[in-house]
Amino acid sequence: MTELNFHGRKTLPARGQPWNELQVAMSDMRGDDPDWRYGPPLNVYYAGEDVLDVARRAYAMFICEDALAPAAFPSLRRMQDDIVAISLSLLGGGDDAVGTMTSGGSESIVLAVRSAHRAFRARHPGVRRPHLLMPSSAHPAYDKAADLMGVDVVRVSIGGDYRASVDVLAQCISSETMMIVASAPSLPFGAIDPVEDIARLAREYEVWLHVDACVGGFLAPHVARFLPGLPRFDLSIPGVRSLSADLHKFGYAAKGASVLLYADAEDQEYQHFEYFDWPKGVYRTDTLSGTRPGGAVAAAWAVLHYLGESGYRALAQRVMHIRDRYIEGIERIPGLHLLGAPHLSVIAFGSDEYDIHLIGDAMQARGWPVSRLSNPAALHLTLTPGHDQSMDAYLSDLERAVHQRERGALRSQSRTVVAY
Ligand SMILES: Cc1ncc(COP(=O)(O)O)c(C=O)c1O
Repeated sequence: MTELNFHGRKTLPARGQPWNELQVAMSDMRGDDPDWRYGPPLNVYYAGEDVLDVARRAYAMFICEDALAPAAFPSLRRMQDDIVAISLSLLGGGDDAVGTMTSGGSESIVLAVRSAHRAFRARHPGVRRPHLLMPSSAHPAYDKAADLMGVDVVRVSIGGDYRASVDVLAQCISSETMMIVASAPSLPFGAIDPVEDIARLAREYEVWLHVDACVGGFLAPHVARFLPGLPRFDLSIPGVRSLSADLHKFGYAAKGASVLLYADAEDQEYQHFEYFDWPKGVYRTDTLSGTRPGGAVAAAWAVLHYLGESGYRALAQRVMHIRDRYIEGIERIPGLHLLGAPHLSVIAFGSDEYDIHLIGDAMQARGWPVSRLSNPAALHLTLTPGHDQSMDAYLSDLERAVHQRERGALRSQSRTVVAY
């Protein structure tokens, strides 16, 4: 069936193939993929067949519509307005708060960095090399953004609690700092940074503070309802100027959905892009992407309304219960310990006795997709509602892998730690 050209490259088939054959071919290709419904971890947020079905149907309904052109598709404009309004109401937006829907966490972050950079340049035209100041645990999307914009990044060490250290940030802030970043929570360690303290620092130096709530934005507000004491991180904290939150993570929407929110509409002005000087007149976008999938907007809108507050709260309770049971199970295995005190359902664990990456290899050999940290060496889990199905099997395989290690049965091999 595969047709190759003289470069040995696959070509477009000479004749089209029927769907049933394509479906079989794609199911075969899926053969080596992990079962993302139940097994940790790999960036899939599965909340059950019913939620998936709603997302799938909504996506299919709007598969051709383009969210770049809200005037052409008032339906998508309305849905995006609703999504932003709901996000603002969950994440502390006041009267002046506004937001935009984007395709994902990285796009929200790149746009936030661009807005902060433009705001900084407007106020400090003399500063030649502004920088982003952030804890070492911040996501590399900021480095990508800085690279695109030609600004520097100053990554600073975090505290022993695996959270941003306000003291270290205070030592490194300067008149060239254009933005500080805090995470809620950080992807590596799952801890929410001390945003209230960082916001005080940002206010004192008049620096833009962005909160990366890509992971926690649609989980923490529901967890906070039944778990008092969760650190605050949202737009209601004076000094937080922008915040990103991903619907395609704990919003359980289809991939391609995030929001970038601003505490003050004036800051969003820096996000707009307009161009006139070409034959087709005004070209205006608020996002990096031009054409954007209407399906992703529709799926996010539908899932938010399908689950509602009670649905999200029930899922949040389930996720936190699963996380507690994983933590208990890991801490029961001699030689393993948790890194810090994760606030939500992202956790990392390491060992002072064993090479934890060898244990990761053994887990991988047993068929578990393994997410790793390199510094400090650790294994990493993002626990989602489906993970109760695999928890007992995962924990008993983990225990076996540690016993194997005790008996010296695991051998070192070189590996590259890949972060998703
Ligand atoms: C804390 C954090 N920020 C940003 C991102 C980037 O999000 P995306 O992969 O949707 O671009 C991630 C992704 O996992 C993340 O965990």
